[in-house]
Amino acid sequence: MKKYILPYSIIGCFIFFSSCYYDKKDQIYPQVTTTACDTTNTTYAAVVAPILSANCAGCHASSVASKNGAGIVLDNYTSVKPYVTNKQLLNSILQNGIVPSMPLNSAKLDACTIDKISAWINKGALNN
Ligand code: HEC
Repeated sequence: MKKYILPYSIIGCFIFFSSCYYDKKDQIYPQVTTTACDTTNTTYAAVVAPILSANCAGCHASSVASKNGAGIVLDNYTSVKPYVTNKQLLNSILQNGIVPSMPLNSAKLDACTIDKISAWINKGALNN
């Protein structure tokens, strides 16, 4: 009877310790952070104007445009619209080499910000 104890306790130990193995959820299923870009309701007033104000006003606000922004005014709809129509606004922020890249001497706007402007343009660039 006694000779069975050793093998069984070895098997028992193995089961005991192997049962302690566990996987970390985050390692098996890495967190996929896909924060979708919401391009619905991209109106001029609520979305486009604030983006231009935050990133372009330093050079293209009416008060400074002649000094810093080659006379291009982008702080009101009427002045912005021609640059949408001639595609310079979108091309400048896409930084695709067709027109000078904007914001001048700064990093490209993030993809979602560009998508929002693009969505507004695709819906007719309304004064909404
Ligand atoms: C640091 C100043 C500065 C900032 C910031 C800036 N611009 Fe400009 N922008 C300029 C200057 C200077 C020009 C004229 C460049 C040239 O013709 O070489 C220009 C030209 C442009 C043009 C006309 C493109 C062309 O053919 O010259 C557009 C459109 C434009 N900017 C849009 C923007 C937008 C949109 C932003 C913000 C996302 C922005 N700019 C931010 C200085 C700036």
